[in-house]
Amino acid sequence: MRKKVIAANWKMYKTPDQAKDFFHNFLPLVQGHDRDEIVVCPNYLAIDVAVAAVKAFNGSSISDRCDPHQAPSGARAVSEEAVIGARKGSNVAIGAQDLHWEKEGAYTGEICASMLLAVGVTHVIIGHSERRQHFGETDDTVNLKLKSALEAGLIPIVCVGEVLEEREASLTDDVLRRQCTRAFHKVSAKKAHNLVVAYEPVWAIGTGKTATPEIAADAHAIIRGEAARSFGEEFADNLRILYGGSVKPENANALMTADGIDGALVGGASLDPKSFAAIVKY
Ligand code: PGA
Repeated sequence: MRKKVIAANWKMYKTPDQAKDFFHNFLPLVQGHDRDEIVVCPNYLAIDVAVAAVKAFNGSSISDRCDPHQAPSGARAVSEEAVIGARKGSNVAIGAQDLHWEKEGAYTGEICASMLLAVGVTHVIIGHSERRQHFGETDDTVNLKLKSALEAGLIPIVCVGEVLEEREASLTDDVLRRQCTRAFHKVSAKKAHNLVVAYEPVWAIGTGKTATPEIAADAHAIIRGEAARSFGEEFADNLRILYGGSVKPENANALMTADGIDGALVGGASLDPKSFAAIVKY
């Protein structure tokens, strides 16, 4: 059974104060929700606030509270209390929207994996179509970024998807296969065990046009097939493939319950706490 991932991609929205407000309202709405994994990917400047908000909401972690030096007696009681506290927490992880593939260096304006890890980031979106469209991201840079994220222990969410002209020219299968093969080039199944893929048809992003559950399920099957070719059948069976493109509270249930759709990557509708919480609870 693949646990679904519901991820928010905030893009270039929200100051740190606005991010703080979001979490203040959002975290109580998803408290104790553990059916799905919830990930929020703010801009770099709001990551710190996001990590702090989740930590403060959840209280100290089980390991902190079970530290024998901090709890010399009654460790069992402390442990039980910690477990209950953790259960009541908000199962929210913080992700980034991009990373550079090098470990460090003279790359003005860039951020690398170790910097993300150092501030509490666990997930990273790679190869979003807006980065491909506006910032020269290619299948090859996606591959380099994927390797770097996996090497560092980040959970990568690799985005693939066709533009409208490609769909209209019946090229969707070819495009998805090419994007996957190149992204996965020389990545081993062992290294890639954390991989998440997001199918985001570019014509559905921010346009209000959503792929039907059938269209999305077909594309997901192509991606799963490609993952099987690169990493083996068992890996492909366990791979989470998210759908992204105008996911809203109104269409979330139909999409999330379609065959082979293992979650959502949500842009616009993730900026509002109530709307994103409604999607999480589809
Ligand atoms: P959207 O964006 O939900 O606003 O269409 C999705 C995305 O770009 O990840």
